[in-house]
Amino acid sequence: MTLFAILTLFPEAVEAYVRSSILGLAQEKGKVRIQLTDIRDFTRDKHRTVDDRPFGGGPGMVMKPEPIVECVEWLEREHGTFHKIALCPAGTPFRQTHAEALVAQERILLLCGRYEGFDARILSQLDFHEYSVGDFVLAGGELPALAITEAVSRLVPGVLGDERSALLDSFQVGGGLDHPHFTRPRVFRGEAVPEILLSGDHQKIDRWRQAEALKKTRARRPDLLQHENSLENPLKSQPHGAQPPPHTPTPKPHNDVSDRTRRT
Ligand SMILES: C[S@@+](CC[C@H](N)C(=O)[O-])C[C@H]1O[C@@H](n2cnc3c(N)ncnc32)[C@H](O)[C@@H]1O
Repeated sequence: MTLFAILTLFPEAVEAYVRSSILGLAQEKGKVRIQLTDIRDFTRDKHRTVDDRPFGGGPGMVMKPEPIVECVEWLEREHGTFHKIALCPAGTPFRQTHAEALVAQERILLLCGRYEGFDARILSQLDFHEYSVGDFVLAGGELPALAITEAVSRLVPGVLGDERSALLDSFQVGGGLDHPHFTRPRVFRGEAVPEILLSGDHQKIDRWRQAEALKKTRARRPDLLQHENSLENPLKSQPHGAQPPPHTPTPKPHNDVSDRTRRT
């Protein structure tokens, strides 16, 4: 079971999403565990101070190193070493391939920033991987941390109802975009579902979907087509026989819900 430790100043906000999303279901199924830790619980002064003015002057406040470093050290003493991620606009742009690689990690720690961000020594001293979720600036790292937690969790075997869903998504095997999807009604406001999808010929349908996916990728994300042949996703041409890759779960009994870590 993958353990995600999310370090934040706003655990209630993160918890609300976890409880009402696929992450809550994944916890109930015992596939992931999400531990929310309030960085303020690791302060030592009566005001529970987590930030201070920047050396050199300038606007805004900077997250102090002591509470965060002590919090990470406490978590690692409790659980063992984590793969540590800091959410930073200046980090590596997070991609599906990163999510795929992270599924192999047993413990993932996500550090959410606020204000102007972290004292740089937190990142240099604790072996953090810095990830950005896009070229824009949010007020905090909570949404990016949830985005990464969800992107990884939905790849954990057993989290999605049908594991083929994740294998056939955009950016997955082959790296291109997904084909268009249609459901009932057959005609909606004068626009009919493509006839081929009603044909019952699954080989033809798979070929059509593959061609549509390629067309969309060429039009919208030609950068993904550097290895165009890799878009010939064998799963996409035989979705009915497709098998998810084997996985080796390490079942451990637990019935955790999102718990707030308190220093004892
Ligand atoms: C207001 S931002 C700090 C921005 C920082 N001064 C900069 O310009 O890079 C506060 C926090 O939000 C989070 N954050 C904001 N935008 C983000 C993004 N695109 N990707 C990841 N984290 C982000 C980070 O944790 C960051 O420390």
